Amino acid sequence: MARQKVTISYFEKKVSDGSKITMMTAYDYPTASLVDQAEIDAILVGDSLAMVVLGYESTVPVTMDEMIHHCKAVRRGAKLGFIIGDMPFMSYQVSVEKAVENAGRFIKEAGCEAVKLEGGSEMVPVVKAITDAGIPVCAHIGLTPQTATKLSGFKVQGKDAESANKLVRSAKDLEDAGAFMIVLECIPDQVASKITDSLKIPTIGIGAGKYCDGQVLVYHDVVGLFERFTPKMVKQYVNLAPMVREALIQYREEVEKGIFPGPEHSFVMKAEESAKL
Ligand code: KIV
Repeated sequence: MARQKVTISYFEKKVSDGSKITMMTAYDYPTASLVDQAEIDAILVGDSLAMVVLGYESTVPVTMDEMIHHCKAVRRGAKLGFIIGDMPFMSYQVSVEKAVENAGRFIKEAGCEAVKLEGGSEMVPVVKAITDAGIPVCAHIGLTPQTATKLSGFKVQGKDAESANKLVRSAKDLEDAGAFMIVLECIPDQVASKITDSLKIPTIGIGAGKYCDGQVLVYHDVVGLFERFTPKMVKQYVNLAPMVREALIQYREEVEKGIFPGPEHSFVMKAEESAKL
């Protein structure tokens, strides 16, 4: 059967059938198209865009306009995947009204199906307001990169019972507020398992072990196109950067030596026409 457009009820069915939800980040047209061709269920246009595509040190500087611009390109590339736009830092923290307005831009301007935002129980009013406006919200707890400074760096969260129980509470509160899905980032397997068992909505792990209902990774990490660092939770399936670098070196050398372009890449006039030049 031809693959259908992915919907929220498709995620629910996958979980009830005991199969895992797949999600990958993408930030542009060609990548979104490849992710869609790989039949990955969901595409997250993550604010990781700031680091892996725009070259910032953290996810904090990326703006709403930049996120919308990239979401639009992803939408053009992915026809069937469920697209989630990541709300950037300060696009949902200032006021509930502003949060709803910005969430609306992801749907109305960029054609996303849902938005994602970071934070625990304190985000309940925001999640509720966006959901009440008819926009599906994916929550994100554990290591929340936008507030990594507050968490004293990029560290595994919920390592002791007290902080783990707080994560379980947050997950439940976010589900009750209307979130349709939740990302669990960098938390111990046992905590992710406990959260997954306590919720009806799907959990999507990144550095949260195998007991989640699905997994997400950052595309540039998976294909080896981000060379600054590789976090422990990443599995690199191919290392493209050295291959691309080698191709570019070869191109430069061939141009410098006059090898490229060859006759097979050139356009030649008929002899009688060229004689008139
Ligand atoms: O921005 C992002 O790519 C994310 C994932 C790491 C979940 O939030």
